[in-house]
Order: sequence, then structure tokens, then C-alpha cells
Amino acid sequence: MFTINYKGIMSDTIGDKDGITKRELEYFREQLSPKFERFLKNKENLGFCKIIKKIQPEIEIENVLGNIEEFDSIVVLGIGGSALGTQAISKAFGEKNHRKKLFVIDNVDPFTLEEIISKLNYERTLFLVISKSGETIETLSQFIFFYDEIIRQGLNPHKHFIFITDPQKGFLRKLAKEKGFKCFELPEDVGGRFSVLSNVGLVPSYCFGVNIKELLSGADKIDKNSLEKVFMFSLLLYLLNIRRSKKIVVMMPYCDRLIQFSAWFSQLWAESLGKKYGKNNEIIRTGQTPIIARGVTDQHSQLQLYLEGPKDKVIILLKSREKKHLIINNSFKEYDSVNFLDKKSFDELYEAEFKGTYGALLNEGIPTIIIDIEKVDMETLGGLFYFFEVATALSGELYEINPFNQPGVELGKKIAFTQLGKKGYNEKIEKDIEQTEYVLTCN
Ligand code: PA5
Repeated sequence: MFTINYKGIMSDTIGDKDGITKRELEYFREQLSPKFERFLKNKENLGFCKIIKKIQPEIEIENVLGNIEEFDSIVVLGIGGSALGTQAISKAFGEKNHRKKLFVIDNVDPFTLEEIISKLNYERTLFLVISKSGETIETLSQFIFFYDEIIRQGLNPHKHFIFITDPQKGFLRKLAKEKGFKCFELPEDVGGRFSVLSNVGLVPSYCFGVNIKELLSGADKIDKNSLEKVFMFSLLLYLLNIRRSKKIVVMMPYCDRLIQFSAWFSQLWAESLGKKYGKNNEIIRTGQTPIIARGVTDQHSQLQLYLEGPKDKVIILLKSREKKHLIINNSFKEYDSVNFLDKKSFDELYEAEFKGTYGALLNEGIPTIIIDIEKVDMETLGGLFYFFEVATALSGELYEINPFNQPGVELGKKIAFTQLGKKGYNEKIEKDIEQTEYVLTCN
């Protein structure tokens, strides 16, 4: 499905100052392998590992969904881990292959909402309300808003809304039980950002036409054949951070179909590994800041910084081996600026620019890893999802933090609720937010 070429982070290629030496790698691999062993032992208890073993996922989905032929649009209401996986699958699958239009509403910007609303015919729209906790205010506000719209149109909300949420807990589960909405389960031990291969990603993908078995079979292949390689990958990124101060990881696909995958990865890496406290409650502040860049576009934007700015980054380049053979027939051969383009394909141009970037990065001693993908199909995408989920969990072991929680974001939620009228939060913070001192007004 894909290879990982890490020659570009080794000291033989980019020097000792920025690259990892063979000895160092061997030493830490041996020293830290008990953490990998522990992960392997515990794997069967991890929700995100268990869910990929479903044999006939589409049967359960069909049973709950019923007939969806009468819908031509699917609207996902969800945010963070409840939205990013579906967006990644949708982009990689290709809009032209969708059997239904997909809208993912993962924000509460009323200007965006209004634009999407103008495109919807409610009678032919199915809303998938996705929230692990069933309590996320952004998602609930969208649901309540659209529920009202559906009622106003004289439509039956039980036909137009299906929930995906925790089997027991939360407002959505309660509502499903008490008001009889159809509901899919998201197992209790699968967190939002690790849920793309659960009903969270599978149900919407099934609706817009993906063969979801392929996603799971790709994940299963990695699970059966490549976990040691995942450990190696996690170890490399960990060593680059801890021993060479590479605090930023840039994911730069030379493949537009994977740009949303990079957004998915970015959330997974950031929210899982950015932690203030270690397992024994000591302050450690771990993490590596993910950045999404796009090849070739960001060669004309970010790349200058990567090459000549602070040497605090590791770059992951993604590329696909597929070809399209779109040929450039040059009518301006007499001009030197463009004569070499004649009869070249965009594949060749893309490849040449990819190599140019890789070469320039190595020349500056910037650690660079290539993920070289045979074909961006659903099986490979499932493999990539699972590879990075396991890599994240293993990195949690290496940093000795809990990658499955997100305590830091709770405070922001509480402050927002206070602003909306929920009583009793930290008055000092409230005052600081509302202060008018130290404000520059520009007219
Ligand atoms: O990964 C996570 O846990 C978060 O990003 C959640 O997915 C996000 O906060 C949405 O939460 P929920 O699915 O409970 O609505």
C-alpha cells in the first residue's frame, strides 16, 4: 500500500546536527521496545484497535439507516474527531464518485451556515448528528436549529435525523431513547479523533458511496503486518523532537486528495500528544506542533521558511504513484521560458517539483520523511488512518502521557458556556476577557 522512506532524517544524509545516527536509533529502539511490547499486549483492550475487526459493517448500517434512496444530500453535523475523518474520506474518494452530495457542518459561523442552507432541499436531506459525548454545544446547536427548520417544513424529524453517539451517556443518547430517534453506537472506549473507522466515519461514507469494507481491510492489513514499522515511525518522530529539537511536524502532501487527511492527522497529533501533565501528574508539556502544507502550492508560500527559517521542523512529504497522463501541448515552443514543457505531462511536472523540494530540504539539512503511496484508494486510506492512530498511541507511550484525553480544552468550553449564561465560572478570567485596556483601535 505505501512505503516510508526515512533516509532523509538520517545523519548519513543530513549530518549529525539535525539527523539521527544509526547507533542512536539502534540504542533507543532497544531501550524503548518494552513500550512497544506493552502496547502490543494492551492492544486488544483499545477501542480504536477493536473496531477495525468488524466483518460485515454494512449490514448493521443498512439495518439502522433503512432506505436512503429518497435523500440526495447528506449533512454531517459534528466537529473535531466527529467531522475530520469523514472529510478526509470524502476528499480522497473524490466528489465525482459521490452518489449523494455531502455537507459537513463543523462550525457555527452563521455566514457558512446560511450558505449551506441555501443549497439544501430539506425534503431530500438526511442529517447525521455525530457526537461521542452527545453534549458538544456546537453540534447540539446545529441539530436544534435544523430540527426546527424540518418541523417548520412540515417534515417528519424522525426520518431526517439519525444520531451517532455513545451507547449510554449524553444528551443525544437520552433524546434517542426518549423521543425515538434512530441511533448508531460509537463504543464507549473509542474517542472522537480515533473514531474514523467506527460508525462515525463509516456511516456517512457508506451513504455517499464508499465500499467501507475496503477501509477496514486496509486498517487490518497494517494491524496484521506492519505494527513494527509504525513503532519505528513513532520512534523517529519522537527522537527528532526530544534529541534534535524538531518541535514542529509539517505534513505536505503532493496529492490534493490527501489534503484533508493531513487536517485529520493534524488534529490527531495535536490533541493527543500536546499535554501539560505526565502520567504521574508532573508538568512536562509535551507535543509536536503539526502544520499542513500543500505541494506544490506551498513551495510559493511556506517552503522558504522551512528551508531558511529556524531548524525546528521535520517534514513529511506524501505522494502517490498514480498517473493521469495529462499532456501539455505547447504552442509557444519558440520561447525559451516554456519550450521545455512541450509534450510533458502534469505527472512529470508534479514529480519534478516534488523531487526539487525534497532535494532542497535535504541540501539544507531539514529532516524529511517520504510516504510513497501506491494508489490512493479506500483500502490504502484505511491503512493510513490506522497507521497514524497506532503511531499516535505509541507516541503516547514514548512521551509517557495519556494520548486519549484532552483536559486542556475543557476550560475554554466552560468559559464559553458562562458567556451564554451558565453561571459560576472563574470571575477573574471573565473580567480579563471583557477588558478594554490595552486595545489598539484601527480605523
Ligand atoms: O478527539 C476528540 O475527542 C475531540 O476532538 C472531539 O471529537 C470533539 O471535541 C467533538 O466531540 P464530540 O464527538 O463529543 O461531539
